Amino acid sequence: MPKISKISSCLRLVKLKKTIVDNKNDLEKLVNFVYSYFTKIEKKKISLERIKDGILKNLKNHRHVYFFILWDNYPIGMLHLFLGEKFTDLCLIYLEKEFRRKGLGSFVFNLLKNFLEENRLTKKPLCIEINKNNKASQRFFSKMGAKLESVIYFYQLSSKNNI
Ligand SMILES: CC(C)(COP(=O)(O)OP(=O)(O)OC[C@H]1O[C@@H](n2cnc3c(N)ncnc32)[C@H](O)[C@@H]1OP(=O)(O)O)[C@@H](O)C(=O)NCCC(=O)NCCS
Repeated sequence: MPKISKISSCLRLVKLKKTIVDNKNDLEKLVNFVYSYFTKIEKKKISLERIKDGILKNLKNHRHVYFFILWDNYPIGMLHLFLGEKFTDLCLIYLEKEFRRKGLGSFVFNLLKNFLEENRLTKKPLCIEINKNNKASQRFFSKMGAKLESVIYFYQLSSKNNI
């Protein structure tokens, strides 16, 4: 595990500007992080194109905020927030596998809290929706001090009733 002094000198959060769309490498990196999350962690089938379209659409809305998590200036993960009216949604925090479980996520969470404080967003709760199978993240957010507030059920309606 890297020492905390090493983490604080190497790890940074960089807010992405709309101009990321002009930088093919950065956009591709961001898309790949989200793709890895959905396919490897949520085990969902989704195309790179669909993720890219979603990110490009979100970037036009100032309420969506994306960050790269940089280690020695190299992107090792990302963070996506939605600044809602009643709460701030932590849509995704993602670290590449080899960087997990080394204390970096906790450090990023503190950087995120600093960002929310600096932007006067501390009155609204931070809301995090986690897949029921994602036990590692449930443990992570519990360790960060988040409290379980609700459970979401999905009921699949029969498709033949669809108009
Ligand atoms: C969630 C995530 C960002 C956490 O980052 P991390 O760097 O691995 O977390 P940390 O090393 O700071 O862990 C802090 C604490 O969280 C808990 N924790 C984290 N990962 C855990 C795991 N795999 N199993 C059990 N507990 C875990 C532990 O209590 C840990 O403290 P400890 O190491 O002293 O026991 C990272 O696991 C990740 O990117 N996961 C994939 C993406 C994802 O699922 N995101 C959440 C959906 S929004």
